[in-house]
Amino acid sequence: MPVIKFTKEQKEIEVPEGSDLRSAAIKAGVNLYAGLNGFGAGLNKYLNCHGLGQCGMCRVKITKGMENITPMGMMEKAKFKVPIPDPLPALAYIGNEETMRLACYCKIQGDVEVETWPEIDLYGENFFS
Ligand code: FES
Repeated sequence: MPVIKFTKEQKEIEVPEGSDLRSAAIKAGVNLYAGLNGFGAGLNKYLNCHGLGQCGMCRVKITKGMENITPMGMMEKAKFKVPIPDPLPALAYIGNEETMRLACYCKIQGDVEVETWPEIDLYGENFFS
């Protein structure tokens, strides 16, 4: 069975192949919903789209094993590339195009390492680029 390692939380879980990353994180007790760099995380844990791919708050960085996750589809790409109505997923995506995914769209097919709560660089060079 594939192993998911949540690096910040230092948790490792085994999941059946084809599991979605969001459900696996919830089962492992990992809160994916960071809000804006942690601001609003407690509230966002409950106020999210519950895996419907609409809120963009379950974004994570896949630091190892991107090849072991189903490829990004059109809806997920749109969530990252169209900053309307919520600009946060698109802002977070800038500079992380190779690693960022929405957990609710990721089906696990092999071992992966996941970084939750990827920060948005509000002051760095990427913000206005
Ligand atoms: S849970 Fe809302 S986009 Fe993934």
